[in-house]
Amino acid sequence: MSKEDNIDNMLDPLFIQESGEVYRNPTQVQMSQIVLPCHANHCGELSVGQLLKWMDSTACLSAERHSGVSCVTASVDDINFEHTIDSMCRHVVPSVDSKKTVALRVGKVVNITAKVNRAFTSSMEVGILVMCEDLYTSHQWKVCRAFATFVARRTEAGKVQLKQVIPHTQMEQMEYSLAAERRRMRLIHAEIITDLLSCSTAQLGECQTQEYKDAVPAERTRVESVELVLPPHANHQVSTFGGQIMAWMENVATIAASRLCNAHPTLRTIDMFHFRGPSHIGDRLVLKAIVNNSFKHSMEVGVCAEAYKGGEPLRHINSAFMTFEVLDGERKACTLPRIRPEPIDGKRRYKEAIARKKIRLDRKYIVSCKHTEVPVSVPWDPSNQMYLSYNNVSALKLMDTRNNWVLTSEKNKVRLYTLEENHMLFFKVVMCVSVPAEQTFHLLSDLRRRKEWDRHYEECEVINQADEDDTLYRITAPSVRKGGKGQDFILLASRRKPCGPRDPYLIALRSVTLPTHPPTEECTRGEVLCAGFTIWEESPSDTKITYYNQATPGVIPYISTDIAGLSSSFYSSFAACSQFLEANKDNVVTLPKSSL
Ligand code: COA
Ligand code: ADP
Repeated sequence: MSKEDNIDNMLDPLFIQESGEVYRNPTQVQMSQIVLPCHANHCGELSVGQLLKWMDSTACLSAERHSGVSCVTASVDDINFEHTIDSMCRHVVPSVDSKKTVALRVGKVVNITAKVNRAFTSSMEVGILVMCEDLYTSHQWKVCRAFATFVARRTEAGKVQLKQVIPHTQMEQMEYSLAAERRRMRLIHAEIITDLLSCSTAQLGECQTQEYKDAVPAERTRVESVELVLPPHANHQVSTFGGQIMAWMENVATIAASRLCNAHPTLRTIDMFHFRGPSHIGDRLVLKAIVNNSFKHSMEVGVCAEAYKGGEPLRHINSAFMTFEVLDGERKACTLPRIRPEPIDGKRRYKEAIARKKIRLDRKYIVSCKHTEVPVSVPWDPSNQMYLSYNNVSALKLMDTRNNWVLTSEKNKVRLYTLEENHMLFFKVVMCVSVPAEQTFHLLSDLRRRKEWDRHYEECEVINQADEDDTLYRITAPSVRKGGKGQDFILLASRRKPCGPRDPYLIALRSVTLPTHPPTEECTRGEVLCAGFTIWEESPSDTKITYYNQATPGVIPYISTDIAGLSSSFYSSFAACSQFLEANKDNVVTLPKSSL
């Protein structure tokens, strides 16, 4: 199994402890279920609602295993059902051509694995992997992967302080590190979406709600359904299971989607679920759904869940947005009828659905675990800033958790390591300085000062200070060949302070493209896929700095002679860096000002 598959599957290779025993993550919980007719829809396939219930229970048990107390679901990140279960099986099991034999249908086994990736204060991120198994062929394939956040219920003493997760394997270390970045994104998710929606819908203006001939009135797809929360829907603390609520929401969304197309719709994606408040046994849950917009091959259905008891007012529990497709006999997406939205709210939701479609695409492709699949230079704009920042930092964290580096060269305790994998070359330089970590972080964060120690930085200007953590720079570098053209780079620098004691300070760099800064005649445009610094506090006055770079054609000429052992210019640069840091260790450092 390749590393990429491993990352995708959340499976660690066997890790043998010193005692000789095979290591198993203590928070890991597994659930295996045979798909029975009562779990399936009318086509005989496992209903997504049932799957969401199993995923939520498995993840909750993992969270409770770590915390030792009762936990509730706070949120579930976006879930992409990348392939229909049938088509995916054809990819994975090409020899099996009968879709009936391999689909996640009645008779197949669903294996769910959940483990706590990281605990924060009272919340934990749980990673969930869903596999399907064909008992007759022993084939297993991935159905989806998800991340849920669980919160330990408050006790009389107040908020619970959870014990930390200690990662043991490289995969656990990677998930631990990325969990902090995912948390950052989910906590500002609602704010980001509101901002993006208001600016995107303003841009769309009036013209987008155009009339289509034969458009279906959205009103025809409206669904309202009530559920009474009974003991089987709740845990022993009488709180309704998050998975049960998601299943009810998926049910009404499927009905709304079917009403548009008069066919059986297939769920493709679920946007992040956030449980805004609890619900308990005895609550009535009102679930409302409507098709917000339909595109050529997909539609967005919005669902809202509210709870009430007796004569109390309705409490908003959750809102979700799901994307459906309709597949023909060849499993190809059919063209869908267009929708005619209702006035006011309908038109607003219609436009918001268009904006969410773009946001979803950005999230899916930029916030991808497969960083190698993200193009070298991604266009930067304020609407994808958050996702590019995540991608930038995560790529550096992934490089930082790799453990197969080879020491290539060493001079006066400055070490150069390389790593070759899948035709890609990575290098890192490690050194220690007698400067406090936070000051090192501030000094290295401002790329305008890098020319003070790095001769490859000729000029550096701030193009845009996007926010406190993200800055866009244009850097010019001299030519490596005499008389040749110089290079320029448009870089996004994303900075992070440690989220906990086991985290470093971090400065991640990657190329982006900006319409305001196209390549020029004078310079060759160079690209940086992933580079940056991790800065670890060794003691209050000593710091370990690691500089990483995933070499691209634009970068290789600057380092190839060092890697080949023909020179040690890396050493002179990093010795100069060390001198620069020590000379400025007591100076106050200010961040670049926004040029906007
Ligand atoms: N996604 C992930 N975590 C979130 C979150 C979100 N959208 N919103 C809050 N949290 C985390 C916070 O970061 C905090 O984590 P920390 O203690 O590790 O720092 C934790 O939740 C508690 O936050 P706090 O501010 O103390 O409480 P709150 O008033 O924001 O309440 C919940 C958070 C989740 C407890 C509350 O919204 C709730 O009860 N929701 C319903 C949960 C439920 O019953 N689910 C089952 C289905 S109804
Ligand atoms: P909104 O501001 O769009 O109403 P909500 O969070 O209340 O946002 O609702 C989320 C989604 O739930 C909406 O986009 C819509 O698709 C659906 N929805 C909300 N209210 C209703 C309703 N009364 N009937 C049908 N669907 C609804």
